[in-house]
Amino acid sequence: MTILGLSAAGPSAPAHFSLEAIVRPNILALQPYRCARDDYSSGILLDANENAYGAALPASYAPQAAAHGLGAAADLAALNRYPSPTHDELKRRIAKLRGVPDEKWVFLGVGSDEVIDMLFRCLCVPAKDAVMTTPPTYGMYGVCAQINDVGVVKVPLVTEGGAFQLDEEAMDAAFKANPGLKMVFICSPGNPTGTLIPLDVIRRVASNKNFTGLVVVDEAYIDFGPEGSSACALVTEFANVCVMQTLSKSFGLAAIRLGFLLGSPELVQILTNAKAPYNVSLPTAAIGLQALSDEGLAVMAKNTRVLNANRDTLIAEVKTIPNVGEVLGGNNANFIVVQILTDGQPDSARAKAVYTEMAENRGVVVRFRGTEIGCEGCLRITVGTEEENKTVLQRLRELLA
Ligand SMILES: Cc1ncc(COP(=O)(O)O)c(C=O)c1O
Repeated sequence: MTILGLSAAGPSAPAHFSLEAIVRPNILALQPYRCARDDYSSGILLDANENAYGAALPASYAPQAAAHGLGAAADLAALNRYPSPTHDELKRRIAKLRGVPDEKWVFLGVGSDEVIDMLFRCLCVPAKDAVMTTPPTYGMYGVCAQINDVGVVKVPLVTEGGAFQLDEEAMDAAFKANPGLKMVFICSPGNPTGTLIPLDVIRRVASNKNFTGLVVVDEAYIDFGPEGSSACALVTEFANVCVMQTLSKSFGLAAIRLGFLLGSPELVQILTNAKAPYNVSLPTAAIGLQALSDEGLAVMAKNTRVLNANRDTLIAEVKTIPNVGEVLGGNNANFIVVQILTDGQPDSARAKAVYTEMAENRGVVVRFRGTEIGCEGCLRITVGTEEENKTVLQRLRELLA
């Protein structure tokens, strides 16, 4: 079966992987919806039932919006039109930044959360298929699995000493015991572990003949780790490896909802055929293009450097607080995971109480993670500004001294 619309080929390795074999047959056979703008996009546009008189916005809004960076005035004038279904220029900038050949290797989503859901919907037959996750990990893999009525085989990370690495032996055993798993989600740096998974390990999973599904590497926090840590380099080598990233973290643009997948043109085409025609809005794309300009990238790099420095200070300081235990994991993201202790032992009840008291009475909201595997007694604290970090440290000191 051929993939409709496909015009480029990705890697052919590894031999044991066939994308067509893991895509749902109904998705493979799908005749994609053709957008109004797929064929003609200039002239008097009376094809898409748009509003000829433009956006219903106060006249005073345009300059204000421009001043706040919410798209140029020219973009606001185009709000009555459906956006590009493809946003090729945005994809080209992402491809260039992350080192994949071109826009055919990039799929855009409404945050990486939409990409996760699209992967489930394109690959997993409800009430039949299953995927693998490696807890403690990002919660949306499990939520999307449940929404799509897909099974989850959980193979916990090796957590001893806060290592948070893949348990390759246990994964291999689970691959053998559960043939036909459609995906394995590898979060690197992990949430909530902050820990990178080495590329050699990801290579071994992709090369494992007992697993015929797709390796999905979630790199939401990758820019906070050292250079060279990204699995993007594997995407052009392995047909069964894709990488998800987002503008929500290092780029500081969580509100615009822009995430993306880097994968083979075949996988990107499958997802494109199945997506809603205009999933990424014009304001999102316009702001995304600005963020991916040279100037935008320089701001991202600077803010990331500052946050990483703040993270190092936060780690050093938090360790001086009585009844704070280990800072777990690799600390390669914009958060840290710290143990709260009683009599030298991690204490989840106390961590929960500290979390609640801080949020309800002391104006600081962190995340309680004490019920996650390997995270007993843990709070996850996002790295903030210097001021914000001082405040959280002060509150912790007050409550734990
Ligand atoms: C590991 C991980 N993946 C994906 C996401 C979702 O990102 P987005 O804002 O792009 O949907 C998050 C958000 O916290 C995350 O922690």
